[in-house]
Order: sequence, then structure tokens, then C-alpha cells
Amino acid sequence: MSQRTLVLLKPDCVRRGLIGELTSRIERKADWAITALELRTFDRATLEQHYAEHVGRPFYEPLLEFMTSGPSVVMIVEGERVIEGIRALAGATDPIAAGPGTIRGDFATITRENLIHASDSEASAEREIKIFFPTQA
Ligand code: TYD
Ligand code: MG
Repeated sequence: MSQRTLVLLKPDCVRRGLIGELTSRIERKADWAITALELRTFDRATLEQHYAEHVGRPFYEPLLEFMTSGPSVVMIVEGERVIEGIRALAGATDPIAAGPGTIRGDFATITRENLIHASDSEASAEREIKIFFPTQA
């Protein structure tokens, strides 16, 4: 089942020089393709849309501050079961709980700076692609 998903390599990934490492893990999967990719510093309004489900939670303001702190990579990835697949590559939201071999498990320690975002369902993917790539929606 071919799908598309929205992936962000967050400011900690770019700062730490892990763009190649993380992108490579995605690129190596058979039958997946990166179909859009850009380095971008997000404004608050864009992130308010993206993280709307988390408004009011205690981590929301620090999360937006972190996500606007420097450039991120934003991409669309297409392919076989890519939504579930990239969530699996990323690992659990809390990097200490994320298994070894996952991106968060291998490279991150704190939940806020957990390197990567990937859409969690087909509905989220379509909503998020519209936010970051309105011309591809
Ligand atoms: P969430 O959508 O729950 O996680 P995921 O990125 O795995 O889909 O949360 C969005 C981001 O908010 C998460 O990647 C990091 C941040 N966050 C915190 O800083 N603290 C928290 O307790 C949670 C749940 C999330
Ligand atoms: Mg989420």
C-alpha cells in the first residue's frame, strides 16, 4: 500500500550534523522515495498549525521555542507503508524508551530534542503535507 508522509528532521538533528545519518536510514529502505526536501527555519504560525493537538500541554511552549531555534529539514517520503515504517524507524517519543536501532533510541536522550517528526496516520500526513508543502497537497 503506497502512502506518503511528512517528515521533519528537527533543529537538533541539523545542529548535530545528523542530516546524512537520518536521511540515509530513510533512503536505504526499498521502495521508498523522498519526493520533496528542503532546509527551512519555521515560524511560530506554521508550528502552531502543525502542533495544534498539543496546545495547552506543559511541553507546548518549550517545544515551539525549540522548533523555531534553527533550521530543520522538511520532506515528503512516499512508498510502501511509509507512515508506519518511519514511525518504527524513529522509535518511541521518549528516546530512553525507544529501542536500540531506532533513530531516537540511538541518538537522543530527552523527549523535546528527539530529532525527528513523522506523521502518525494517513489523515495526519495529508494535513501536515498541506501545512508544509501547500502546492503538493
Ligand atoms: P507527540 O505527538 O506526542 O510525539 P511524536 O513526535 O512521537 O508524535 O509529541 C510531539 C512532540 O512534542 C514530541 O516529538 C516531543 C514533544 N514532547 C515533549 O517535549 N514532551 C512530552 O512529554 C511529549 C509527549 C512530547
Ligand atoms: Mg505526534
